[in-house]
Amino acid sequence: MIITCDNCKTRYKVADDILTKPALKVRCYKCNHRFTVYKNDPSDDSFLLQDEITAADHRIITLSNQKGGVAKTTTCLNLAVALAQMGKKVLVVDFDVQANLTILLGFRKTRSFYELLNKEVKGINDIILHTKYPNLSLLPSNSKMALLKKRYLKQHNFEYLLRNRLQEVEKKYDHILIDTPPSIEFFTLNALIAAQLVIVPTTCEYLSMHGVSQIGDIINVLKGIDHDIEYKVLITMFDKQKTSERVINEKIRRKYGAVLCSTFIEIDDKMQESHIVNLPIQYYDEKSRSAGQYQALARELIE
Ligand SMILES: Nc1ncnc2c1ncn2[C@@H]1O[C@H](COP(=O)(O)OP(=O)(O)OP(=O)(O)O)[C@@H](O)[C@H]1O
Ligand SMILES: [Mg+2]
Repeated sequence: MIITCDNCKTRYKVADDILTKPALKVRCYKCNHRFTVYKNDPSDDSFLLQDEITAADHRIITLSNQKGGVAKTTTCLNLAVALAQMGKKVLVVDFDVQANLTILLGFRKTRSFYELLNKEVKGINDIILHTKYPNLSLLPSNSKMALLKKRYLKQHNFEYLLRNRLQEVEKKYDHILIDTPPSIEFFTLNALIAAQLVIVPTTCEYLSMHGVSQIGDIINVLKGIDHDIEYKVLITMFDKQKTSERVINEKIRRKYGAVLCSTFIEIDDKMQESHIVNLPIQYYDEKSRSAGQYQALARELIE
C-alpha cells in the first residue's frame, strides 16, 4: 500500500497489514509532518514513515494515450536515450504492431514478442537487440505481433503475458520503457499491467486530453484491484504561438496539476528532421530545444 505525505507529497510503501482501522498517526521521514492513516493496533501512538519510494520503483515505465500521434514513440525513444546518456541501463520495448520504435532505432525484419510466445526462441534474451547507442537495448516489434491479439485475447489472464516475460530480465536494467499503440486493447493492457509508472503524453488538443482521462480511469480501476501503479501527464509538441493550445494547456494544468510533469516538450522542427534520418534527437542535434527538454524530463524522473 502507498501512503503519500499530506505536506511534501513524498510517497512511502507500507505493508498492507498495518493499515486497517483504527487511526494511526504517522510522521514523514522527509519533512517531519504528522498526519493520520489507519492501522490495526490502536495502542501504537505513532509510526515513522521511512521506506520512501525511489526511482527504482519506477523501473518499468509505459507510454500510453489512445489518441494517435501525440509523441508516445518519440517520447519513448528520446527519454530512453536521455536516460542511457546519464549512464542508466535502459531497455525499450516496442509493443506496437506499427513497429515505429524498431524502425527509428534502425532495425527491420527482426524477431519480436510473437516469436517468444510462439516458442520459436528459447527466451526473451534471444529477441533483445543491442542498439548502436550505448546502454540502450530494444525488444523489437514486427508485423506478426498483429496475430497475438486474436490468439490470446480470450485467454485467461492474457494481460499478464508481458509482465511475466519481463520478470526474467528486469533486474538487468535500470529502466524499461514500453511504447504502446493508439488504442486500449491487448497490447496496451499488457503494457499497463507491466508498469509501475505510466507516462501519458498529450498534445494541447481536446481529443488528446480526452485520451488522458480514459487512461486515468483505467489506472484507477487497476489501483482498485491493488495494483501499484502511478501515472504522470506529459505535455508534448506544445505550440505556444497558438491561442487554442494555450487555452488547452491551461485546462490540462488545472485538471492534472498534481500529476503533471513539470517538464513539457515544445513543438520543434528539429524533431521531425531527426525522424527523417532515423536518429534520436540527442544524436541529431544535441543543442536543440527538444533534446534539452527530454534531458530535463529524464532528470525529473530519476531525481
Ligand atoms: N516535439 C516535437 N516537435 C515536432 N514534431 C514532433 C515532436 N514530437 C513528435 N513529433 C512528430 O509527431 C508525429 C507523431 O509522433 P509519434 O509517432 O511519436 O506519435 P505516437 O503517439 O507514437 O503516434 P501513434 O499513436 O501513431 O503511435 C511524428 O511525425 C513526429 O515526428
Ligand atoms: Mg507510436
